[in-house]
Amino acid sequence: MSGYGRECADIVRAARPGSYKIGMILGSGLGSLAEEVEDAARIPYAHLTEFPISTVTSHSSELVAGTLAGVPVVILSGRAHYYESGDPAVMRTPVETLKELGCEILLATNAAGSLREEVAPGDPMIISDHVNGSGKNPLIGEEDEARFLDMSAAYDPELRAVLHRAAAETGDPVSDGVYMWFSGPSFETPAEIKMARLLGADAVGMSTVPEVIMARFVGLKVAAMSIITNYGAGMQAEALSHDETKSVAKQGMDRMKRIVRAFVKEAGK
Ligand code: HPA
Repeated sequence: MSGYGRECADIVRAARPGSYKIGMILGSGLGSLAEEVEDAARIPYAHLTEFPISTVTSHSSELVAGTLAGVPVVILSGRAHYYESGDPAVMRTPVETLKELGCEILLATNAAGSLREEVAPGDPMIISDHVNGSGKNPLIGEEDEARFLDMSAAYDPELRAVLHRAAAETGDPVSDGVYMWFSGPSFETPAEIKMARLLGADAVGMSTVPEVIMARFVGLKVAAMSIITNYGAGMQAEALSHDETKSVAKQGMDRMKRIVRAFVKEAGK
């Protein structure tokens, strides 16, 4: 580990003592989940050593430590993306901080484009696996053997089952799918979307994969969920835009919140 995770965990514990069970990363338009955390300490990333401040307008850049559904959680409201700096390990310190605070689980969320007609904007999708379409990896430069990280069950099968049970409990239809990471920040071309479909992807996005690799590296179990905000390029009549991503993510937010709350309740037992 780089060392800053421990330093940041000390800052968080000074603001709110305790040990935590579940860490979460909230993606574009999904930040309002952090408002539901109770008994919370809210710490701007600017107060946390080496925490990257996102330049993306829909991200709030705040760590929220408290309880959700009675479970001690740490929410990273806002993530920095590879495309902001060119550094695939940009979320290293935040992920390490979750580990240092005692979290055993990372729940990553994002906004994504659907590659399947039947999975529509506003729908949640549980990520079953990923394709790293960027060619970048946050572990490049690591020197010990741990860099040869097994990714064969990166999205923990038990936690995926918990997410499915949570969605069944709240009555929200949910699908399972493979998420493909494109670096962004430009959206994909229709030809790239065709390629992604051929490669077995169900959704595309510009985040999550590097954090998931980093989280597995530090020993967190991972679950991840997308809110579909649009169809992939060439599959819908309208042009893609970040405004659309933000506003549709907000519409899907109520479903996401219900599922996450039910997930936390069971996974945090
Ligand atoms: N492509 C990449 N990232 C995205 C998309 C998309 O279609 N929608 C939301 N984030």
